[in-house]
Amino acid sequence: MTPRITVAIDGYSACGKSTLAKDLAQRFGLIHVDSGSMYRAVTYHLLKHQIDPSKTAEVKKILHDIDLRFLQEGSLFVLLLNGSPPGDALRSKAVDDQVSQVASYGFVREKMVEIQQNIARDRGVVMDGRDIGIVVFPNAELKIFLQADLEIRVDRRYLELGTTENQLARKIVAQNLTERDRIDSTREISPLTKAKDAVVIDNSNLSRAEQLEVVGALVQYRSQQLT
Ligand code: C5P
Repeated sequence: MTPRITVAIDGYSACGKSTLAKDLAQRFGLIHVDSGSMYRAVTYHLLKHQIDPSKTAEVKKILHDIDLRFLQEGSLFVLLLNGSPPGDALRSKAVDDQVSQVASYGFVREKMVEIQQNIARDRGVVMDGRDIGIVVFPNAELKIFLQADLEIRVDRRYLELGTTENQLARKIVAQNLTERDRIDSTREISPLTKAKDAVVIDNSNLSRAEQLEVVGALVQYRSQQLT
């Protein structure tokens, strides 16, 4: 039977949170929510409407026009922005460069957190992001703080982008990750921090399968405690 467990995964940019979350969701029949995609969708919408993300009043105004919801397709939970899936557009360099600024607004975070908490109200969920274990699900049964060496994170992100933006220099990727990490961990509202009760996993030297084995065992253990 599918456990009604809440798993919170937090960590710096590009350390494999979504990959782990996806794998856990598939193994345990949970729903995977990539909370970063929601902040990316807001940013994409602003840029599409030529709104400067540093103009607080304009961002606040257009936020009312943004409807974010998830469509369940089997084990996949697909994000819809005003009714359509934004897809790869969320991973563009323009979005990468502005998303942390957008995510630093308290009013943006409030709207995202409300949607995120509603999703998990009556089902098992694994959600990855920056504030999941502390703000979104402070009572999550399992909290993971994932980390990996910067060089490894840059390689992973670079490879991931390879399919959409071949020309992007590795150096630019490194700069973006470092800058996002800086903004995300120093912002006033809900900065990225490790929850006291989170299990720290460094996956620098773990394969995808090994990481799933380690964290999967923890999910199994916590699920058994629930029954
Ligand atoms: O996870 P991902 O790298 O796609 O997230 C993009 C950005 O969204 C992060 O750099 C961060 O600024 C923001 N974010 C956040 N809180 C979350 C998830 C993402 O502030 N829970």
